[in-house]
Amino acid sequence: MATTKAATTSTQISRGNRTRTVAVSATSPPLPRPGRRYAIGACACLIRGHRYRHPAVDTDRLERLAGPAGAEVFAAIAAGLGGAPLTDDAALRLGTALRRAHPADLVAEALTQAGLRQRAAAKFSRADAMFLTRAGWEQASPEVVARHRAARFPQGRVVDLCCGIGGDLLALAPGREVLAVDLDPVHLWMARHNAAVYGGTVDTLLSDVRDVDLAGADAVFVDPARRTGRGRMRTGESEPPLAWCVGLDVPAIAVKAAPGIDHDTVPAGWELEFVAVGKDLKEAVAWSPALAGARARATILPAGDTLVAADGEPVEVRDPGRYLLDPNPAVTRAGAVEELARRIGAWKIDERIAFLCTDSPVTTPFARTLEVVDSGPWDQKRLPRRLAELDVGAVDIRRRGLAGDVDALHRRLKLRGSRRVTLVMTRVRDRPWGLICTDVA
Ligand SMILES: C[S@@+](CC[C@H](N)C(=O)[O-])C[C@H]1O[C@@H](n2cnc3c(N)ncnc32)[C@H](O)[C@@H]1O
Repeated sequence: MATTKAATTSTQISRGNRTRTVAVSATSPPLPRPGRRYAIGACACLIRGHRYRHPAVDTDRLERLAGPAGAEVFAAIAAGLGGAPLTDDAALRLGTALRRAHPADLVAEALTQAGLRQRAAAKFSRADAMFLTRAGWEQASPEVVARHRAARFPQGRVVDLCCGIGGDLLALAPGREVLAVDLDPVHLWMARHNAAVYGGTVDTLLSDVRDVDLAGADAVFVDPARRTGRGRMRTGESEPPLAWCVGLDVPAIAVKAAPGIDHDTVPAGWELEFVAVGKDLKEAVAWSPALAGARARATILPAGDTLVAADGEPVEVRDPGRYLLDPNPAVTRAGAVEELARRIGAWKIDERIAFLCTDSPVTTPFARTLEVVDSGPWDQKRLPRRLAELDVGAVDIRRRGLAGDVDALHRRLKLRGSRRVTLVMTRVRDRPWGLICTDVA
């Protein structure tokens, strides 16, 4: 796979421990210069007008930290903690002690990494051996999502454009020939290290993704940046933009996007997959026709249950029944609520509201099932008395299609009972409606 096109300046491409310099396009914006030390916290790295900042860290220090000197400091931190969490106090205490025997900059960075690893353990099973920046791990795909996505990729030559700290790379790399590209040298260094932690060997290219020659690639994955040093970009904005990503001239493309992505921004023939981990909607992925299997799909991890939005018989609209189903947000975003209703024999309570009902309990990975204890037109005056009659002491309020100040309502309810219920504020055939529900065991 060629790594560059029109040549007037140069950048680094690395495999394993070998690094070579290759040429890049004259039309690219100024690239971070290979060979120089990047104290990014101080200077930041300017990407087409957006600044990306990390706490001060440079690739030279990371190399030392990944070597024998770093291993000693990490071992000393682990011994000092003895299994306890790294709190601010512990970091202060350990920092003072360790600086007596180790270089201060190494100790400071090792403590930073130890803190980041601790927090990233919720996303990565091998966080303890990874190198991270705060912005990098926060934006990284959780391992369970990365593995699901990688399983949909073909074998062969794959390019990870905007690889970040390698959250996706760690799942893509094993068993494939992968080129990882990022404009941020610290992220690129971490991506290569982190892929290796998971058994992958990758080529890395320090470049603006626009300047990468993709000839020979079988597939491309792009996870464009959606935040800058100044915060989140506006909804629908990313760097590079989605329109650029979906226009790439390669046989197969997948682009990670915000879960709020507008379906119309993806070309015809592409699939939009909405991915949730449990009940938390994490992201959307746009799959090009070669990798698509549907118009839209909801996937619930870790089990990988998947529901495809399909055309079919219209779903009946009726008054609520004994059970209320609250579809997973991935299902609602994929527009697959009606398909779910057809599959489980449910009906809708309103033409536009995504709650479903059944008369018998249903167990499905695509919705939470609640038992209806009380149902009627919304009556805020009657509500406190009814909740008291039902011995309710705590409510979770679920609002869909009905406006209202949830905090003010909570205060007005003055609950004293012993049961916990879900209060659903919604519409039934366009009439404001309230349901008091309990979880089905
Ligand atoms: C959302 S993060 C990628 C996260 C990654 N998929 C993961 O799971 O770790 C976006 C990355 O894109 C990089 N980036 C943004 N614009 C770029 C460009 N034009 N060329 C190359 N890299 C870029 C940023 O430096 C950042 O590391």
